[in-house]
Order: sequence, then C-alpha cells, then structure tokens
Amino acid sequence: MPSARHEKLDVLIRRAAIEKRVHAVARQITADLKGQRVHLVGVLKGACIFLSDLVREIGLETSIDFIAVSTYGAGNESSGQVRMLKDLDSSIAGLHVVLVEDILDTGLTLSYLLRILRQRKPKSLRVAALLDKPSRRVKKVKADYVGFTIPNEFVVGYGLDYAERYRNLKDICILRLPPPDVLAERIPEP
Ligand code: IMP
Repeated sequence: MPSARHEKLDVLIRRAAIEKRVHAVARQITADLKGQRVHLVGVLKGACIFLSDLVREIGLETSIDFIAVSTYGAGNESSGQVRMLKDLDSSIAGLHVVLVEDILDTGLTLSYLLRILRQRKPKSLRVAALLDKPSRRVKKVKADYVGFTIPNEFVVGYGLDYAERYRNLKDICILRLPPPDVLAERIPEP
C-alpha cells in the first residue's frame, strides 16, 4: 500500500485476526472479573479504537475514562519523557481498573501510568495492551493481557499513528519510511 509521501505500508496483522484476538481478551477480562464492575481507562489517543471494540465485548457492568500522555514527539523515536496531557475525569478509588494501552514498547509510558494510578488506590489494576514489542523494553513492566507480541518494527493503524496519520487503517501495518536521500530530494533548497 504505497502513499504519496513515499511511505510504504506492509500489513502485519489483518483486521479479522485483530477482531478475533480482541474478543478473546474481552472474554478473559470477563472471566477474571466475574460479577464485578470493570472500569476501563484508555490511554489516548492510540488506544481509542482498541478500547471501543474491547468494551463492547466485555460481559460485565463497565464504565470508561481516558487519560492522555505524550511520550513520543511527532516522529517515531522515544524521547524518554512522559508528560500528562489529560488526567482522568473521575476517581478510580475502590474500582477494578483495566488500563487499556495501544502498544507496550520501552515501557516508560506504562511504568509512569502504573505509578500514578496505584497512588489513587484502585481495588485492582490490570493492563491490557493490544501490542507488545518486548525487544525494546527499558522498564521492567508487563501487561496482564496482550493482543499480539510483535517484532521491533514501527507499526500504524487500528488507532496507532505516525505523526497523527494512519490511525484509521483497519489492519495493523509496518510503516516503511523512505530512505534519507528520497526525503532530501523532496525538501526544497532555501
Ligand atoms: P513506550 O513508553 O516506549 O512503551 O511507548 C508507548 C507509546 O509509544 C505507545 O502508547 C505509542 O503511542 C507509542 N509507540 C510505541 N511504538 C509505536 C509504534 O510502533 N507505532 C506507533 N506508536 C508507537
């Protein structure tokens, strides 16, 4: 799937496989929290599509909230800095919380989120990550529910972006950027 920007997309996980796996994660959460109310906390913006599909398959009383953090800039390299952009709307004290993440990469974001959410005294705190890239881990964190473990590739689609683009792709795709000489050709001389 070529794009006008010379970026190339190779499908890594097709929509049917995503759907099947999201349903399986939802069933697992339903079983683990049987009879309880579950409070899903989505990490914006990447987890919004995963959360929307997940919550509709959970057979329990649910509520949702969102938190937004920024770990990456506009590109695809981790800055190592986590910044809170939007806090939760309501307290999570005494709730069974499932933090819903798009991708677990270095673990910096998750380790920050777990630290601040634990301070708020939820009854339990679990993590559901659609994707896991364990090879890049810097912080020792792991998710209770993982959709797919993937190789060290930059992926987009199903909520994941590159500079805010590609979130709407139905498949999860590996993004291949053009080589630097192609990029240089496209930057006009001053
Ligand atoms: P971490 O803090 O390095 O674990 O990174 C987590 C965040 O980085 C994710 O929530 C994503 O927003 C972003 N991220 C990491 N890898 C990718 C990727 O392959 N594609 C798109 N975003 C990514």
